[in-house]
Amino acid sequence: MTRRLASVVDAVGNTPLLRLRHVAKDTPDVEVWAKLEFANPGGSVKDRAALRMIQDALKDGRLTPGKTLIDSTSGNTGVAYSLFGAAMGIPVRLVIPSNVSQARKDIVRAFGTEIVFSDPMEGSDGAIRLARELVAKEPDRYFYPDQYSNPGNPNAHYDGTAVEILAALGDRLTHFVAGLGTTGTMMGCARRLKEQSRPIECVAVEPDEALHGLEGLKHLPSSLVPAIYDASRHDRILRVTTEDGWDMADRLAREEGLHVGHSSGASVFAALQIAADVQKGGRRGCVVAIVCDRGDRYFAPMKWERRYVW
Ligand SMILES: Cc1ncc(COP(=O)(O)O)c(C=O)c1O
Repeated sequence: MTRRLASVVDAVGNTPLLRLRHVAKDTPDVEVWAKLEFANPGGSVKDRAALRMIQDALKDGRLTPGKTLIDSTSGNTGVAYSLFGAAMGIPVRLVIPSNVSQARKDIVRAFGTEIVFSDPMEGSDGAIRLARELVAKEPDRYFYPDQYSNPGNPNAHYDGTAVEILAALGDRLTHFVAGLGTTGTMMGCARRLKEQSRPIECVAVEPDEALHGLEGLKHLPSSLVPAIYDASRHDRILRVTTEDGWDMADRLAREEGLHVGHSSGASVFAALQIAADVQKGGRRGCVVAIVCDRGDRYFAPMKWERRYVW
């Protein structure tokens, strides 16, 4: 049935689950599912967190008319802020390392967002520091959601993502897999899943080294640890190499028709490892991996032309 929406805001959530039958063909007794978060209107899992943080702040008065939303973001959260900012009439200013892909810059600017560049050598931690400095200088001008410390970020997943997964798979679910970026997805989902009477193993995915190519994920041992992160929420961490994440993203495109980003490749890679272990142990299982965004977000785009020249 076609959903009739009053606002783009209403298009967030209720994303589909897809059974991965081809890449998981060696583990027939273990269901492997991908939660397709690219089906959100901003194209990523971060729509949920961004919207929740804005809605919470509108409710409790931290975000009032005339204030500008400012935050640091490597991309997807920025797209989400930009989209909802445009739809809800909230100006948005993003602090982004200057080496972030041109596509990311172009996407957020398309919504009218202003970008402040931070030092590319300092990565996402440098962007966080610069955003904090700007807010400290003019605190009344800004609403600073700070996705790394805002409980709305995990709460969006506690009230949304995890509830949807449980509604779809119920008691069959045995494992949940998500990458660690701000850690909001894992923190919120694990909190909800651990409330179930049956044990559901929550496995976090982290890049195996500090310098990696799994955009969206953080190597926590070498990063500023997000305030929302609580290492006791998940059962274990699986470290995935950039190569394995990228290769799995390629396989998902070719074998499942799912063209996804590399952090999603890493999570599905981890999910298949878990499925193989369960199958080897002669058990049945049901694993859900979060697919955060689509692969075309990582293409170098053509310049956005106002006019075609024939
Ligand atoms: C592509 C991608 N993958 C994974 C993540 C991690 O999600 P979370 O921030 O909820 O830990 C993000 C978040 O920034 C992301 O943009």
